[in-house]
Amino acid sequence: MDKTYKIGNREFILDHDKAEEAFAAKKVINGRQTMTFNLLPLKYQWAYDLYRTMKANHWEPEDIQMQKDVEQWRSNEISQNERWIIMMGIGYFSAAEGIVGDNVQHVVRELVTAPELKLVLGRHAHEENIHADSLLYMISSLGINPHECEAMFEQIPTIVRKNEFVTKHSNNLRRDLDLTKLENKQLLAKNIFVFGQCMEGTQFYGLFGMILALYRQNKFPGIGQMFRYTLRDESNHIEVFRSLFMDLIDENPDLWTAEFREDLVNTMREAVSLEKEFIRDCLPVNAVGLSAEEFERYIDYIADRRLSDCGLPVLTPGVTNPLPWLAEMMDVRKEQNFFEGKVTEYQKASALVVCSDDEF
Ligand SMILES: [Fe+2]
Ligand SMILES: [Fe+2]
Repeated sequence: MDKTYKIGNREFILDHDKAEEAFAAKKVINGRQTMTFNLLPLKYQWAYDLYRTMKANHWEPEDIQMQKDVEQWRSNEISQNERWIIMMGIGYFSAAEGIVGDNVQHVVRELVTAPELKLVLGRHAHEENIHADSLLYMISSLGINPHECEAMFEQIPTIVRKNEFVTKHSNNLRRDLDLTKLENKQLLAKNIFVFGQCMEGTQFYGLFGMILALYRQNKFPGIGQMFRYTLRDESNHIEVFRSLFMDLIDENPDLWTAEFREDLVNTMREAVSLEKEFIRDCLPVNAVGLSAEEFERYIDYIADRRLSDCGLPVLTPGVTNPLPWLAEMMDVRKEQNFFEGKVTEYQKASALVVCSDDEF
């Protein structure tokens, strides 16, 4: 018996029994492994939808003009503190984008089994490549010595600690991990939580806030635009990893023990504390018209959003968002002339989609 399946406005005729069998065999982990990329019938609709959203948001660094940034970088109108924030941004993200991309590609995408999950994770990894490339574009435009950036993520203790915090959850999880064992399932779930919610979801936000605070004051407009695009991408990455995490738990309720939940909350506590140390390093004195305390409170706020979105208790009950303008910055659609450079075909206004306006 044939059955019609719809995805958006596309229709597919599938044999009912075969489709039911394929659907039942799809799982986040320990599902059917095939060489063929059998997306139909879709089981994880969110993964396919996010893949389409992410693809519609495609951008390339070279579309953004850097003349004004270069002028400001060479002039005296930019303070040492502001220059330092840009350096910390480029230094930290140069390492972080690669670490996330490696984990998506070589840990998570290797271990999940449903093809639509691999599809969206492939796009996720590609976006980390775009982000890494955008940093190269910033480095070359401003004439920064690449070794200086490398030295930052090897020598600045707060960056080293942030990077170690995430890589220790990634190093031992490669493709041959036996995911029928509870302890290994928990290792993977924790990895997905750490990368999606603690790192991309929380530890990226100190610098996002600082660089966009500069952008708001018309400082480094090209870099600011690239970070706005990156932030929009990150909001989708956080959602990919959150949905993956929730479905993994749903399908494997044995891993969701009280002890495990407590471990996740404590891990977020550690992430927040590392991020606050890092913010103090970026903002040794109050610059950019905003205080380190405000950014720290923002981290408390955003961390609690991540925890509650994963069904976990919060760390700072009642904390409010001290940087509401950051949500505005996220909403790329509101600006008419966002693209100072050329508007390329993939950047049609109708295709600019964010995951959720109230995410921030
Ligand atoms: Fe990224
Ligand atoms: Fe990301």
